[in-house]
Amino acid sequence: MNPFLLRGYKGPDFFCDRESETNKIITALKNEQDITLYGYRRLGKSALIKHIFHHLESEFTCIYADIWGTTNVEEFSKNLINSTIHSNLLRKKRFRDKVYDFLKSVGASFKIDADGNPSVDVIYKERNTAFDSLDELFTFIRKLDVSVIIAIDEFQEIRNYSNHVPFEAKLRAITQNAGNVQFIFSGSEKHLLADIFTSYRMPFYQSTRMMTIDKISEDAYSEFINRHFKSAKKEIQTDVLEFIMQSSYRHTFYAQAMLNLLFSVSKRTMDLTEYMKHFKNFILEKAVYYSELPELLTKQQFIMLKAIGKQGTIANPTSSEFLIQSGIKSASSMHRVVNSLLDKQLILKDDDAYRLYDVFLEHYFKMEK
Ligand SMILES: Nc1ncnc2c1ncn2[C@@H]1O[C@H](COP(=O)(O)OP(=O)(O)OP(=O)(O)O)[C@@H](O)[C@H]1O
Ligand SMILES: [Mg+2]
Repeated sequence: MNPFLLRGYKGPDFFCDRESETNKIITALKNEQDITLYGYRRLGKSALIKHIFHHLESEFTCIYADIWGTTNVEEFSKNLINSTIHSNLLRKKRFRDKVYDFLKSVGASFKIDADGNPSVDVIYKERNTAFDSLDELFTFIRKLDVSVIIAIDEFQEIRNYSNHVPFEAKLRAITQNAGNVQFIFSGSEKHLLADIFTSYRMPFYQSTRMMTIDKISEDAYSEFINRHFKSAKKEIQTDVLEFIMQSSYRHTFYAQAMLNLLFSVSKRTMDLTEYMKHFKNFILEKAVYYSELPELLTKQQFIMLKAIGKQGTIANPTSSEFLIQSGIKSASSMHRVVNSLLDKQLILKDDDAYRLYDVFLEHYFKMEK
């Protein structure tokens, strides 16, 4: 098996470091503090939540809800109910009848698929609003009389709901009254999370502890990589390791993908020249994803994206040198373009310099003629 995972979580052996974050969050949860977890995209928030759940599963009922793509409170409620059903709750025989009774009470149809996994297709009774279903869900959870942790991943999605302020107030009331439940709210859009949790006029104001994850340290990552290569009786050469650590910016998903590639093509060992050939093909295969970018952006945005990509990182985009190089005429247009690319999550600020969010797009631009 390739130990460098490209998605999901398969236990502590394949999960690198995050020890202090894990301990901090576990301690907070055990002390009845709710958590807001922020980290930019593809850095490892979801995997960290699963890792924390792995440690807490014997003590807590752990519910993981990914609300990406939900557009209203009904979908949110249905998602949370489904996540409850998919949690380790049903594994406990003594809860099964209670779960079925609860599903009946919210008017949900319920089936078990061929793999034995339960799933629910919620059909609300007419008298039920989505808020009622949420109330019923939390009444049900409260009555179970066990300690529960609910992680709501991609929490910023609630800002797309049309009635998000009353919904936030409702959710805030629920979290306040759910004595046996601790929450993790996780997301990747800083300004939205900040507005939900740190804005004085919003219901969730200062109700959670804010935690930010950053990159995994170079030492911890190197140790993890060497351990896995060694145990597969392979060797990773120092310059290859350095190349991967640097050119992925240790942005977890991209580092994992580069390591996964190396592991898959390297028999015992591989030098940098050979690896670069594989890496080049790997990047060029992505052309299909990138070919539509010019149509999705204004001309200036695309030019700028390419200029940053070719350069790698840009500390000061309004320097006269970069203005000339990028062909953007004034500092104020540059500000506008930079902000629009930040908004679109096409670039990010990392270690005080701008770079492309998608590390592989940077390499694609660099390889283009
Ligand atoms: N500590 C880690 N050790 C090893 N692999 C990790 C670690 N954290 C995350 N990964 C891997 O990195 C990739 C991205 O992680 P994950 O999906 O958790 O990021 P995310 O921050 O939730 O991203 P998104 O914002 O897109 O939801 C996955 O392939 C995951 O398996
Ligand atoms: Mg995630």
